[in-house]
Amino acid sequence: MTESRAQITKAVIPAAGLGTRFLPATKATPKEMLPVVDKPAIQYVVEEAVTAGLSDVLMITGRNKRPLEDHFDRNYELEQVLRDKGDATRLSRVEESSGLGTMHYVRQGDPRGLGHAILCAAPHVGDQPFVVLLGDDLIDPRDPLLTRMMRVREEHGGSVVALMEVPPESIHLYGCVAAAPAGETDVVRISDLVEKPPAEDAPSNLAIIGRYLLDPAVFEVLRKTEPGRGGEIQITDALQTLAGEPSLGGPVHGVVFRGRRYDTGDRGDYLRAIVRLACEREDLGPDFRDWLRGFVTEEM
Ligand code: G1P
Repeated sequence: MTESRAQITKAVIPAAGLGTRFLPATKATPKEMLPVVDKPAIQYVVEEAVTAGLSDVLMITGRNKRPLEDHFDRNYELEQVLRDKGDATRLSRVEESSGLGTMHYVRQGDPRGLGHAILCAAPHVGDQPFVVLLGDDLIDPRDPLLTRMMRVREEHGGSVVALMEVPPESIHLYGCVAAAPAGETDVVRISDLVEKPPAEDAPSNLAIIGRYLLDPAVFEVLRKTEPGRGGEIQITDALQTLAGEPSLGGPVHGVVFRGRRYDTGDRGDYLRAIVRLACEREDLGPDFRDWLRGFVTEEM
């Protein structure tokens, strides 16, 4: 186990998935680039990481993911056109995404599961704790989850995952944990993890949402983790090993998140996320809410 108080600076964002749930939109465009209102989903995630102090961002990509690199890079031509027009507002929107953290990219090659994607980060991360953010989960910036997870690691060491209570009929979509209270009301100590169990086998209604603060000991465990659910190497299984043997890399705790989370993982959730975020936007919200009220009363 590494020193738990060391500043955590590295974020890993797996983005190699094919996005088949959004075909044909994702035939030639990475699903991470689909806009949520007017920003690609992935930009919310990078902003969340950078706001929490994770200024070094590694994306695990694959084929057809070049637009991700371009999005977080400068676009001099476009910047110049907007500068010549004196359009400062749009210029700052263009510059926003290239002025975030230091971006790095590595390709996964074989898509062998989330655990395997995380393992691709090992050479870059080295022997430091790091944070994994999954792009399908957007966390509202008003409910800072990562800083809470960092505090929990400072106190307990080891690894920390984000959890959320979900209805029993949804638990089969998530990694699920067995856990016991660990002092504060939002912290639990995890004893067991299972990837996407059927409702009747689920040890609780606590689902893993896509934020993990991992001790680097996880890499050694992942190297030895056999393919699990769906024939893929699962991070949930590696965490199960860590939880069962704290001597490897410290305990595994969970932070039970009760804030605002927007799921962009499938089409229905994606639409709901856009409507909710659009309603809350200061610039677009007032008009959009008025229209939505009318639409719901007249059309539904
Ligand atoms: C992944 C993880 C799962 C976790 C989920 C959170 O599943 O394997 O344990 O609960 O992310 O979004 P996926 O949704 O990528 O299938």
